[in-house]
Amino acid sequence: MSSGRMLLFAFDYQGPAHLSAGLWRHPQDRGSRYKDLKYWTEYARLIEQGCLDGIFFADNAGYHDIFEGSVDAALADVAQIPANDPFLVVSAMASVTEHIGFGLTGSTAYEHPYALARRFATLDHLTGGRVGWNLVTSYAESAARNLGTGRQVPHDERYDMAAEHLEVCLKLWEGSWQDDAVVRDVERCVYVDPSRVREIGHHGRYFDVPGIAMFEPSPQRTPVIFQAGGSSKGLRLAAESAEAVFVNAVSQDMLKRQIDRVRALAAEAGREPRSVKVLQMLNVVCAPTDELAQEKYETCRALVNYAGAMARYSGWTGLDMSRFDPDVPLRHVRTDAGQTMVDLFSRMDPDKEWTPRDIAGFVGIGGTGPTVVGSPTTVADELTRWMDETGVDGFNLAHAVKYQDIADFIELVVPELQRRGTMWSAYEGSTLREKLYGPGVTRLRADHPGHRHRDPAALDPAPL
Ligand SMILES: Cc1cc2nc3c(=O)[nH]c(=O)nc-3n(C[C@H](O)[C@H](O)[C@H](O)COP(=O)(O)O)c2cc1C
Repeated sequence: MSSGRMLLFAFDYQGPAHLSAGLWRHPQDRGSRYKDLKYWTEYARLIEQGCLDGIFFADNAGYHDIFEGSVDAALADVAQIPANDPFLVVSAMASVTEHIGFGLTGSTAYEHPYALARRFATLDHLTGGRVGWNLVTSYAESAARNLGTGRQVPHDERYDMAAEHLEVCLKLWEGSWQDDAVVRDVERCVYVDPSRVREIGHHGRYFDVPGIAMFEPSPQRTPVIFQAGGSSKGLRLAAESAEAVFVNAVSQDMLKRQIDRVRALAAEAGREPRSVKVLQMLNVVCAPTDELAQEKYETCRALVNYAGAMARYSGWTGLDMSRFDPDVPLRHVRTDAGQTMVDLFSRMDPDKEWTPRDIAGFVGIGGTGPTVVGSPTTVADELTRWMDETGVDGFNLAHAVKYQDIADFIELVVPELQRRGTMWSAYEGSTLREKLYGPGVTRLRADHPGHRHRDPAALDPAPL
């Protein structure tokens, strides 16, 4: 059964390269322009011309230094390093657009909630309510070493910390200022009515934030909450608090299981299951015909750099892939971690034996999400099939060639999706939350846990 309008975001990074390895050498790749503000404003305009829902910036609080026990391979292939701060480019991108949303990754392990909540509120004001937070718990030891804590907080505890971090932010965004706190009463010389601003009084295990928010309520108050962790702790947090979950399933079966699980958990948490939107990470290589698309894909594959792919993959998994022979199937390697990875890939294709080189070839283009190759009709058929068979709401589009792949998608695939009515041809509503839930739903839905922090005196009839 068709699942309605397809949500589409461009997935990107504030650096020369994101997920694809060695592809910065492609003649059409524009990654080296990442320091140029004009590059990002042109990109923002392109995304809006294409009627996409927005751009989603991944980020990493650390860098990849697991492969060969060093950051060298990551530096050589610009494997998510260098990386600028994605928050700083958003005002410029927003100033040349009216509609596109901006997903921004922020770490609950290394950002203080008081400061992070203010940065998001600022951008929500400046963009007219177009920001979302990709809430991540972070995974790199290098982040722990450089940001002052030395060693990472253990995996599950990072999620406990994330839950409290989010609670502090929600109290600041939803509970501190009433909607009518700004009165600008010239006669009485009162700009803000102090009786309508309250302290949040948060005293928790990880954070003490007793005072008031320093910012007035922004259009959405709370940015749209995205979450990407797939462990049971991660899924639980997503089911309780995320408005959109971001996943990288390698097959439709796997995706359907993940979606069913997160929506069942959301129902247990008292939320409307379909209010948790799911976005699948996916890479599209398209050209006017299937043959040309295949050629384009082969050109990209030939450019994949083994060390660059493994620098990323080792960083994501925490396993030094240089310890394995690139051409020996991993099932012959007797380590638990190796076996887990074989499982990940063998689930996708049970008859194939995966060597590290095969894995590099796969993740070297667009990371751990699948790649769809073909003409506009083939791609549109395939994306629609993913939606119909899994209940996924849309896609976060990775790329092999920076800028150009999204430009090609917009030129070739978007008109085909619009013709079929799967994608809209004009934006409705102006905020990011309205893109998820429809015009009029700018604030958190009433079944979201953040809603309970609102001052009853300030409650507006948030639509369901
Ligand atoms: C599709 C996807 C995208 C992610 N993007 C980021 C990111 O941009 N920055 C980051 O620090 N972690 C990112 N992560 C990592 C997760 O936030 C999380 O730290 C990691 O998956 C480990 O948690 P888990 O064991 O619950 O999956 C991403 C994970 C997935 C699945």
